[in-house]
Amino acid sequence: MCGIVGYIGNNEKKEILLNGLKELEYRGYDSAGIAVLAAGELKNFKAVGKICNLENKCLDFVSEGFGLGIGHTRWATHGKPTEVNAHPHIAQFSNVVHNGIIENYQEIKKDLEQKGHQFVSQTDTEVIVHLFEENLKNFDDGLEAFKQTINTLSGAYAILLITKKYPDRIFYAKNGSPLIVAKGEGGIYFASSDAPLVGYANKVVYLEDGEIGSMDSVGFELLKNIKPLEHNKAFAQKEGFRYFMEKEIYEQHKVLLETMMGRVSQEGINLESICGDFFEGIHQITICACGTSYHAGMSGKYLLERISKIKTNVVIASEFRYANPVMEKDELFVVISQSGETADTLEALKLAKANRLKTLAICNVDNSSIVRESDGVILTRAGIEKGVASTKAFATQVMVLWILSVYIACQKQLLNQDEFKNQVQSMLQASKATKVDSKLHERLKRLSKRYLHGHGFFFIGRDIFYPLALEGALKLKEISYLHAEGYPSGEMKHGPIALADSLLFTVALMPKHLLYEKIKSNVEELSARDATICAISSQDFEVADDMVYINPGASYMEEFFSMMVVLQLLALEISIKLGNDVDMPRNLAKSVTVE
Ligand code: F6R
Repeated sequence: MCGIVGYIGNNEKKEILLNGLKELEYRGYDSAGIAVLAAGELKNFKAVGKICNLENKCLDFVSEGFGLGIGHTRWATHGKPTEVNAHPHIAQFSNVVHNGIIENYQEIKKDLEQKGHQFVSQTDTEVIVHLFEENLKNFDDGLEAFKQTINTLSGAYAILLITKKYPDRIFYAKNGSPLIVAKGEGGIYFASSDAPLVGYANKVVYLEDGEIGSMDSVGFELLKNIKPLEHNKAFAQKEGFRYFMEKEIYEQHKVLLETMMGRVSQEGINLESICGDFFEGIHQITICACGTSYHAGMSGKYLLERISKIKTNVVIASEFRYANPVMEKDELFVVISQSGETADTLEALKLAKANRLKTLAICNVDNSSIVRESDGVILTRAGIEKGVASTKAFATQVMVLWILSVYIACQKQLLNQDEFKNQVQSMLQASKATKVDSKLHERLKRLSKRYLHGHGFFFIGRDIFYPLALEGALKLKEISYLHAEGYPSGEMKHGPIALADSLLFTVALMPKHLLYEKIKSNVEELSARDATICAISSQDFEVADDMVYINPGASYMEEFFSMMVVLQLLALEISIKLGNDVDMPRNLAKSVTVE
C-alpha cells in the first residue's frame, strides 16, 4: 500500500526515483510524485495514475551534481486520487512523502490553520510538512523540529521529508510502516521495501518502529544493524508472459517444491526455523489473517484438524482486533501474511502477544514486521509476487499449513509409517499438479468468452474446497470486477439458491476423492433451477453446461491444487477478455498497511 523512495547523491535523481517507484508501483497506483532538491532549487512533479504519466510530466527535467530526492506512489486513503492529493505534499520550503495514516491530522490541521497555514489537499499527510515548518520557528536544529513534529503524530507512518533549509539531508521516521535506509556506490537510498534497492545498494538497515533521524551522504555507517542486501531478491520480470499474475500462476509447481525443500522428506518433516519443543503445551490453534491469506488459513483448519487432530479456529484479523477475543494459555496464535506488513494482521499479532500467547508467522517476506514480531516463523518461499491478485503466495501458504499439520501429527505420533509416506507422496504430487497444462489453458481461454455477462457467479465446494471456492470468487472479483460469491455447497438450499437462474453462473468444485456424491446432489439442485453450471472435476457430470477436466490424482489435495490453478486461470482469462489491468486492478494495492 503506497510506496516510498528516497535518494542522496550525485547521480541523476529523477531517474533513480522513477526506477524505484516503478518497482513499487504494484503496491499502489492511483497517483505518484517526486521532489528533487539540488543546487538550491526544490522541484516537484505529480501525476494521476501510473508512473508512466509522471515520467511524461518530468521528461525534460534534469538535475546535475549533488542533491536529494523523494518519491511516492499512492493508494488513496484520505482524499480522492487527484494530483493535489498526490505526494509529495508541499509547504513553503519543504516537501514530504508518507505511507500510512495520521489519525490525529484533523486536530493538527485546525491548530495550524489558526496559525495561518493554508492547506490544499484532503490528505492527512499534508499536516506533517506544515507542522515541521511551524516547529522550525521554535528550534535552531532541524532534527529537533522534525522530532517534535513526529512526536505530535499518532498513527502509522513511514515518512521522508526534505527542506531547502537543510539541503544536504533527508529527515526520516518510521512507526508501523516499513522503511529501509541503504547505501551503495552511488549514494544513500531509502525505500519502503527491498525491490527498488536491488542493483543500487549493497548495505541495508531495516529501521525499527520509533526511529527518527536525518541522513546525509556520510551518516549511514553510524546506523545500527547494517546488513548486506540479499541480491537473490532479483527483479521480478514477466519473462514472456502477458502479465505477472500469469507468470506467477505458471511458477507454482516450482515454488511449491521450494517450499518443501529441506523440510519434507521420506525420513520426516524438518522445520528448520522451529525448535523441537515449540508445540509443547499447545492444545489449540488460532489462525489469523486477511483476504487470500485468510482463505489459506481456512484451508489450514481442515488440514490441522483432520491430520494433526488439533482444534483450530480461524479469524479475520480486522474482526479479531476489536472483538475482545478470549485467549487461552494453551493456544498458539498463527498469523498468515504474504507481505508481512498487513496492518490488521500485525496489530492482531501484537494483541495476541500482549495476552502472552505464543505466536507463529507464516510469511513470504523475511525481515518483514510480522516476521520480526513473531516467536516463530515459517517462510513460504514463494519469491516476489507482483500481481496484486495473489496466486503463488496462496499456494505456498496452503503447502506450509499442510507441512505443519503433518509435522504436528508426527510429534503426536498420529501417523504410522505408511500414512506418513502417503502424505509426503501426496505433497509431491500436489505440487506437480499445479504445472499448467497448455491444453487446459487453451480450454479456459475459450471458455472464458462465455462468462463475461450474467449477473453473478457462485463458487461452491465442500470441506477444504469451500475456502478454495471463496478464493476462486475473490480472484474473479478482484480482477474482473464481476460479482462472485463463494459458498459451502450444502448451504445453497438455505437461501442463496433463490438467486439461481440461467444467468447465474455456478462454478462447482467436484473432487473425486472427497464427498463427491454430496456435492453432486447440491449441484443437481442448482441445475434443476436452471443455473448455468461449470463443473471442475475429473468425473463426467451430465448436468454440467461446461466441464473443465482435471487429473483425478490419488488424493483430494492433488485435486485441490489442480482446481486452484483452474480457478486462477479462469479469473485471469475473464479479466483479459474484459480488457482490465490484470496486475494492477482498480482500487486495490498489494500490501495493505492501513487499518
Ligand atoms: C488478494 C490478496 C489480499 C491479501 C490480503 C492480505 O489477492 O492478495 O486479499 O491476501 O490483503 O495480505 P497479506 O497476505 O500480505 O497479509
